[in-house]
Amino acid sequence: MKKIIVTGCNGQLGRAIRKLYDDSREYTCVNTDISADVSADAGASVSALDITDIDAVNAFVGEVKPYAIINCAAHTNVNGCETDVDNAYRINAIGPRNLSIAATRHQAKLMHVSTDYVFDGSSVTPYTEFDTPAPNSVYGRTKLAGERFVKEFAREYFIIRTAWLYGDGKNFVRTMLGLSETHDKVTVVGDQYGSPTSAEELAKAIVHLLPTDNFGLFHGTCEGATNWADFTREIYRLAGKSTTVETVSTEEYTKNQTGVVAPRPMHSVLENYMLKLTTSHMFADWEAAIAAYMKDYR
Ligand SMILES: NC(=O)c1ccc[n+]([C@@H]2O[C@H](COP(=O)([O-])OP(=O)(O)OC[C@H]3O[C@@H](n4cnc5c(N)ncnc54)[C@H](OP(=O)(O)O)[C@@H]3O)[C@@H](O)[C@H]2O)c1
Repeated sequence: MKKIIVTGCNGQLGRAIRKLYDDSREYTCVNTDISADVSADAGASVSALDITDIDAVNAFVGEVKPYAIINCAAHTNVNGCETDVDNAYRINAIGPRNLSIAATRHQAKLMHVSTDYVFDGSSVTPYTEFDTPAPNSVYGRTKLAGERFVKEFAREYFIIRTAWLYGDGKNFVRTMLGLSETHDKVTVVGDQYGSPTSAEELAKAIVHLLPTDNFGLFHGTCEGATNWADFTREIYRLAGKSTTVETVSTEEYTKNQTGVVAPRPMHSVLENYMLKLTTSHMFADWEAAIAAYMKDYR
């Protein structure tokens, strides 16, 4: 069996990856996260691996000698990164640097995941892998720094930029469903556009790419685009909720928030251009992916 180290395995993507490899006869996951808590998934044990610790990462990768490392670990709290800057750089930039160094030293492939927030969102057309990033938040800047380290230190790598991710964990979909339990009306931003992407769809693309030598940078999001308000309406429609969604502008929404709110790209729709140019792999439409997700979680 080929071993795959999954970092951040208790996060949304980590869980989806593990699920897909569960029945594999060719690959087995070596599950790691910042703490060694036994995962909620039946039977899966987790080793503690802090990706910000270069010595620990080198020792672990040297011991396991994996075929590949899939980095699902990240500091994903976009607002939190604005005030937790050093930690954001440690996890989102130094972490992938460490994994890249270890992957090269121990001849493992590296799959790294990045974000649409590397773009400033000023384009009205979807971004391809050939567009120049210009992040407008700490989260985006730290993730871009992580991409650059991977390109610098890893030899056989894939970087997949995804967006608006939801899976088994804390996410926008669950937050909105939670709000619908206590509110007749919710107020949601309607002028930020992107492509909601299920962790399952992203995991499928990762599993498709990993055995290949089709290395490099990819965009990986569900097809189509929407805004947060319309996305919420679709979630409520699928869940049979009668909660009304009132649309507000980002400006209005930000004005009414307490605490630091990170600037968001207004139009961070990604085109999966490299996947389409080099593979036959297609992501599902965002509507189909959210419908599949709601079936599982209703
Ligand atoms: N969520 C989104 O909307 C979104 C959008 C675009 C791109 N992405 C990217 O997609 C990837 C997966 O995101 P996700 O939503 O699955 O993330 P997630 O659910 O937040 O999971 C991240 C995991 O990494 C762990 N972690 C944090 N610091 C660590 C460290 N130093 N060493 C090892 N593990 C650590 C976290 O543990 P704790 O929970 O204990 O901190 C958590 O289990 C990330 O690269 C993210 O940047 C996400």
